Amino acid sequence: MEKLEQIEALREKALVELAAIDDAEKLAVWRVRYMGKKSQLTTLLRGLAALSIEERKELGGRANQVKEGLAESFKEKEQAIFEARLGKLAGEEALDITLPGRQLPQGRLHPINQVIYEISDIFASMGFAVVEGPEVEWDYYNFEALNIPKEHPARDTMQTLWVDYESEKGERNMLLRTHTSPMQIRVMEKQPPPLRIVVPGRVFRYEATDATHIPMFHQIEGLAVDKGVSMADLKGTLYEFARRFFGEDRKVRFRCDYFPFVEPGVEMAIECAVCRGAGCRLCGDSGWIEILGAGMVHPKVLERVNIDPQEYTGFAFGMGIERIPMLRYGIEDIRLFYSSDLRFLRQF
Ligand code: FA5
Repeated sequence: MEKLEQIEALREKALVELAAIDDAEKLAVWRVRYMGKKSQLTTLLRGLAALSIEERKELGGRANQVKEGLAESFKEKEQAIFEARLGKLAGEEALDITLPGRQLPQGRLHPINQVIYEISDIFASMGFAVVEGPEVEWDYYNFEALNIPKEHPARDTMQTLWVDYESEKGERNMLLRTHTSPMQIRVMEKQPPPLRIVVPGRVFRYEATDATHIPMFHQIEGLAVDKGVSMADLKGTLYEFARRFFGEDRKVRFRCDYFPFVEPGVEMAIECAVCRGAGCRLCGDSGWIEILGAGMVHPKVLERVNIDPQEYTGFAFGMGIERIPMLRYGIEDIRLFYSSDLRFLRQF
């Protein structure tokens, strides 16, 4: 029977072509050609109307079988193409969604900043307010108002980095502050006593570098002015700080010292953490490391900011920050803080 052969030949051809297809575009073309409304099979089925009932039954039945069979094969092919594509994607990106995520590197505070926060907290708990001031300063605040006039030998103890600037009067009076003490003046100018402040910040000196000296370091200034403030308050406050920061068992030493803006003046030293008093490279064989200068605010300094020294007294101290963690952790060289060596910094 001619028509039946045509149907079988068509099926054969369709399946051969389908077997060769490996992408979705070609599959779509194949679908239109063999399963669409204008396909040969559909045309053939339409032509059945002209035949006898028996022929129609036989041919129609077979034609429908073929149609369903092709639809089935089409679905299988479509699935195969889809899976091949997924497999290719997985291969290209090596995607493994079960792997744990990559850890992002996490920064942290520099050990010096950590110590500044810790020290500030201790003083804040004793009623001191934390304030900050400018790193570029006028000669007036850094020296003059602190009772260190021009030509005074005390200026030589702080080798100064001057800013290349001349005022209208031809004076070179701008500098990188050599200590945080100028903030004593700035605060007292604005705020009447009673007052209690600490001032952490960066300071600069033209100095040779060694295990305990660098040209840029940090200080924290303290100032308390009120009626009846005495040297006992100064010592009590600093002992309490040392006890809370270093622990009960660390020895503390006060000795006389000279700073033009205090009278009397003292220095405070802490027992060396490396040798515990026996003497080593860090403490220059003395067993002690000096951490701050302090004293009772000089009456001349109070007068300059219009505070009556008969009525009010005050104490002040200036602590070198870097030496504090050195003493606590037994760090032997101050330069480690600024060498950007992560093996060192990650320990804090
Ligand atoms: C002063 O700077 C005074 N302003 C301190 C002061 C304040 C006295 C208030 C009285 C009243 P001195 O120059 O000693 O003093 O420095 C204070 C501290 O800074 C020192 O004890 C030391 O711990 C630290 N220091 C000084 N020079 C350096 C340096 N080059 N590198 C690291 N730390 C330093």
